[in-house]
Amino acid sequence: MDCNVVHGSLLETAHALVSSMTLPGDTAVDATVGNGHDTLFLGQCVGSKGEIIGFDVQQQALDNAKHRLRDSDVSINLHCAGHEEMDTYVQQEVAAVMFNLGYLPGSDKSTITQTETTLLAVGKALALLKNGGVLSVMCYPGHAGGDVESRAVTDFFENLDGARMFRRLGAGEKSPFLLVVQKNGQPQEEAGRGLGL
Ligand SMILES: C[S@@+](CC[C@H](N)C(=O)[O-])C[C@H]1O[C@@H](n2cnc3c(N)ncnc32)[C@H](O)[C@@H]1O
Repeated sequence: MDCNVVHGSLLETAHALVSSMTLPGDTAVDATVGNGHDTLFLGQCVGSKGEIIGFDVQQQALDNAKHRLRDSDVSINLHCAGHEEMDTYVQQEVAAVMFNLGYLPGSDKSTITQTETTLLAVGKALALLKNGGVLSVMCYPGHAGGDVESRAVTDFFENLDGARMFRRLGAGEKSPFLLVVQKNGQPQEEAGRGLGL
């Protein structure tokens, strides 16, 4: 898999890639809503004619996100359900699916994403994407369980044409990294052109 080093934040890299591959009116999925930062970002990408469908297993996370999204004019449907069930809630093709693995920032870290369900969900996300749609997964190998999960998701991406990994300059083995793939997308060297990626 192509590995890219970035100087800025990985979140900014994810957002730059996803926004370059989505259009107003699209439907997008936030697979790990958490406090709603990515949900809000996706809403800005698809605009008031688009739709966001979000998943989290913690009601507290969804409540935090709803508060953050209170002024948004985008159609946002949040489900207190595991992302591994996304195919029962998402009936249409989508332009983007974002995962931000691990635990809810500011929580007790007792609820984290799990390798088995994450792999199931990433596979379902890929199936739901339209051609040219983008899948991004932020991985955190630094916490217990996160190393195994990150390795498993990386192995999954290794088998996808055009998949790319992003790491921060000087990042160690346990540092977060980002995986991105465009479904049946353009060649690697084209994706991200003009974004400095
Ligand atoms: C790193 S946080 C997400 C942060 C979020 N993107 C934000 O902007 O604040 C990971 C989230 O995944 C959630 N989670 C854990 N297992 C899940 C599952 N099976 N399906 C959906 N969400 C899950 C956790 O509850 C947690 O809120």
